[in-house]
Amino acid sequence: MPTPKPTRLHRRDLTVDVHLDPEWFDRTLRQDVLDGLTSEFKELPPKWFYDDRGSALFDEITRLDEYYPTEAERTILRSRADEIAIATGADTLVELGSGTADKTRVLLDAMSRFGLLECYVPFDVSEGILRASSVELLTEYPGLRIHGVVGDFEHHLADIPTGGTQVIALLGGTIGNFGPISRKALLTDIVSTMHPGDQFLLGTDLVKDPSRLVAAYDDSRGITAEFNKNLLHVLNHRLGADFDPTRFEHVARFDDTDEWMDLRLRSLEDQTVRVADLDLDVHFARGEEMRTEISAKFRRSGVVSELAAVGLTLERWWTDPQGDYALSLSTLR
Ligand code: SAH
Ligand code: AVI
Repeated sequence: MPTPKPTRLHRRDLTVDVHLDPEWFDRTLRQDVLDGLTSEFKELPPKWFYDDRGSALFDEITRLDEYYPTEAERTILRSRADEIAIATGADTLVELGSGTADKTRVLLDAMSRFGLLECYVPFDVSEGILRASSVELLTEYPGLRIHGVVGDFEHHLADIPTGGTQVIALLGGTIGNFGPISRKALLTDIVSTMHPGDQFLLGTDLVKDPSRLVAAYDDSRGITAEFNKNLLHVLNHRLGADFDPTRFEHVARFDDTDEWMDLRLRSLEDQTVRVADLDLDVHFARGEEMRTEISAKFRRSGVVSELAAVGLTLERWWTDPQGDYALSLSTLR
């Protein structure tokens, strides 16, 4: 099937290329749900969390005391942004999974202080949040050009606009939401978008005491549980499914073999869910779990070797004072 032409909306300093039209969503979501809910071990990809409600819930998670990664990364960015701006000399910041672009401002400020900043390229699957954050940034940074791309990491990285000297950022620990095989594919695709002189800024959450990890992913206010269950709302809304979220519970455990947080939804009873648009009935046994997300935790040696495997050399490695989280800068070999 030919790839549909992106919708391009242009307004003064803002261009947004939308590669995810309703037909794409429909086709891709249907395939993922069909594959994920008919296999013996049920599993759905986390990208479907992020409709407008899911993005807002994630934003709430980032403000929870228990969820330390956001503040840890902000702390590192605050102390290292100038160094990053000087080391990269980049005039363009490409941010993969930009979300609200909240911490991004720390980097934009530094690039601007050194007279480097010209263009910001947010890339996200969630069009609403990308547009809202872009409009805010345009008012905060007069003269900044924003060229947003609404796309999927796994399909549209080649559509990132080229030009200038770029620093490509993947922050927030989002890389951890991919398993080892898709992570390698993602890093390979990221490297394919890079040109000589470009650098890669990566945020990785680090292995730590499992009790802190579980608290971060099963917070006392139940926001992460609501975020997890948002996937069921998305399926109800987009595919005419009849999931009753109250008949599932949020499960978050640390898998110490794979060193990742494993997020699931557990069926509280024996039940059959209808997915009308797929003409599909899905049975859940009482206690059966469906995986909705992994969030891998890293060690420095693993990051170095995963980067090296795709031709990137680690240049800088910074952690927050507690050693909870790392930000790394790497270059093409
Ligand atoms: N970078 C921000 C947001 C992290 S949340 C931070 O550090 O806080 C992860 C972001 O990645 C969300 O905005 C989500 O919409 C986006 N995302 C998740 N899966 C994606 C995919 N497959 N393709 C593109 N964006 C994706
Ligand atoms: C976006 N991503 C890095 C978050 C994480 O920590 O893995 C998503 C998340 N899931 C539950 N809480 C936060």
